[in-house]
Amino acid sequence: MQDLTEKVAIVTGASRGLGKAICKRLAEAKVTVIAAARSFDDLKQLTTSYPDQITPIACDITDPKQVENLIHSTMTMHKQIDILINNAGIGRFAPVDELSTEDFSLMLDVNLKGTFFTCKYSIPHLKKSKGHILNISSIAGIESFASGGGYCASKFGVMALSDALRMELKSHHVKVSTFCPGSIKTDFGRYKDYALEPEQVAESIYQIVAADPGVIMNQVVMRPLVP
Ligand SMILES: NC(=O)c1ccc[n+]([C@@H]2O[C@H](COP(=O)([O-])OP(=O)(O)OC[C@H]3O[C@@H](n4cnc5c(N)ncnc54)[C@H](OP(=O)(O)O)[C@@H]3O)[C@@H](O)[C@H]2O)c1
Repeated sequence: MQDLTEKVAIVTGASRGLGKAICKRLAEAKVTVIAAARSFDDLKQLTTSYPDQITPIACDITDPKQVENLIHSTMTMHKQIDILINNAGIGRFAPVDELSTEDFSLMLDVNLKGTFFTCKYSIPHLKKSKGHILNISSIAGIESFASGGGYCASKFGVMALSDALRMELKSHHVKVSTFCPGSIKTDFGRYKDYALEPEQVAESIYQIVAADPGVIMNQVVMRPLVP
């Protein structure tokens, strides 16, 4: 396992749910964390327990200018980016003929285009640091289901984007991983009692980014053990 002290990580969707748990886990490992989301008050609340480790930056990842600013601010403050965790995501579930065009577009904008923007603007810095991109996809990124037409399309897109990036960045020693969780106990949607705890998922994500430099976990699927 690598010692991640001195590393700088950006985590999107950090205001609640899984993103918040990832920020906490990284901060406990003494990683310098940039926590990004739109809800700045929630981000500030998160930093109160880790004032030296976590810095909040308001960012709507659907806006390329705000994403550029996120990367620029991180570089200005810390001079490096080692880890990019694309976690922000939304889900709107309905049969295709009932799904609004607005909801379909929003899922592609947040889940897929937002991931594209953060990767695009941080790649020059990740090449310098020989860093790591970890994209949070979903089981819905490898298996489609009824009423998931828009969400699955956006997450399958994340898988394709990540696969292409992995090939583009391999020669630069930049790792690209996809993480595909099943149901997690967050505000994302309804879940059963056996769903994964965000902290369990965050621990696995930590293991992936802390793996030895010569090891890459391309794709990890994590499901709750359904009784
Ligand atoms: N929960 C599950 O069962 C589950 C299962 C598989 C995969 N996932 C994936 O796991 C990731 C995290 O989900 P979660 O369960 O933690 O969901 P969540 O509790 O609803 O949190 C979603 C996060 O995304 C952020 N976000 C949404 N739109 C954004 C935008 N335009 N710009 C920046 N940030 C934005 C939200 O922050 P603001 O609203 O403050 O911007 C929030 O921090 C998502 O990619 C989701 O698809 C979740």
